[in-house]
Amino acid sequence: MKALILSGGKGTRLRPITHTGAKQLVPVANKPILFYAIESVVKAGISEIGMVVGDTEAEIREAVGDGERWGAHITYIRQTAPLGLAHAVKESESFLAGHSFVMYLGDNLVRDGIEAFVKEFTERRPDAMILLAPVQAPERFGVAELQDGHVVRLVEKPAEPKSDLALVGVYLFTPKIFEAVRAIRPSARGELEITDAIQWLLDHDAKVEPHIVHGWWKDTGRLEDMLEANRIVLDGLEASNKGTITGSSQLIGKVVVETGAVVENSVVRGPAIIGRGARIVNSYVGPFTSIYHTVEIRNSEIEHSIVLEGSRILDVAGRIEDSLIGKDVVIRRRQTMPKALQFMLGDHSEVELT
Ligand code: DAU
Repeated sequence: MKALILSGGKGTRLRPITHTGAKQLVPVANKPILFYAIESVVKAGISEIGMVVGDTEAEIREAVGDGERWGAHITYIRQTAPLGLAHAVKESESFLAGHSFVMYLGDNLVRDGIEAFVKEFTERRPDAMILLAPVQAPERFGVAELQDGHVVRLVEKPAEPKSDLALVGVYLFTPKIFEAVRAIRPSARGELEITDAIQWLLDHDAKVEPHIVHGWWKDTGRLEDMLEANRIVLDGLEASNKGTITGSSQLIGKVVVETGAVVENSVVRGPAIIGRGARIVNSYVGPFTSIYHTVEIRNSEIEHSIVLEGSRILDVAGRIEDSLIGKDVVIRRRQTMPKALQFMLGDHSEVELT
């Protein structure tokens, strides 16, 4: 069995972060989301992985490499354009050549892994297996209708969903899926939808089995989902300290301090992670916060947030909350008059002031 991990696409819902980087590389608890997908696949016993990439290919190649560190072998497949999940499958046919495979969307996190699903698929041998989970806003997902436990209909992002069962971004396929992806036509949003390809299988008497996911699962395409994923993963970490804690500092609860990080006269209340070489000085880092490598926080307070590499938060009055701060961003209090707000923000940035 092989795996296909999808790491192309546009990432429009996470702009401006995705103007300059791949959404699959945004770290959750200081580890790129994509790495959780690779780990899950490898844990399920699959080592031949096809990585579908688009415009962010170079960045993904640099972060992921050849897969050796996971004991896997990764083949990069450049999608000619982000024309849909089924289009990605179509363009991966020569890599998948005659194999069954698991397709894993690189921005999805499935906390309990996929081992059980892969095992069930290999034992039961349906033509396809889909994972479903009840969600609160099904209109944002592919939605499945079941009757007596059988899948009868799948619709991509329906305006009026017939159930609350969303398609989770992990699918198991036999090569029969290639007939389907060749047969379907682009949807209203101009994409070849994998949902339509699976519907095609259903319409042609193929066996499509559903598997309900009971554990926690998240599509991290939006800010609030990213923060929730960060919360859940941080909660599962064990406290550890490889950095330097000085002065009146206090680490409370599950706090991970990575190598070379310095916490000086500051309070860090876990669950939280302070990345390699970060400096937290005279500050408060509250629960559910991931501070990435070489970030500097000075005379400021932050919680329930993710801060990416190299950013600096200096002398900010008032606590920063519920935020995703990109790489090398500077937020600082102005030291000179007039007391005005000054911004230099990238396209699609969002700022909320109190
Ligand atoms: O997360 C689950 C949902 O994923 C399902 O419920 C939907 O049925 C399914 O269509 C998909 O919906 P999204 O709109 O969230 O998919 P998105 O465009 O975010 O793409 C998912 C991943 O696949 C993401 O890592 C980017 C990558 N991708 C996407 C497209 C459209 C590609 O590699 N190539 C592409 O052409």
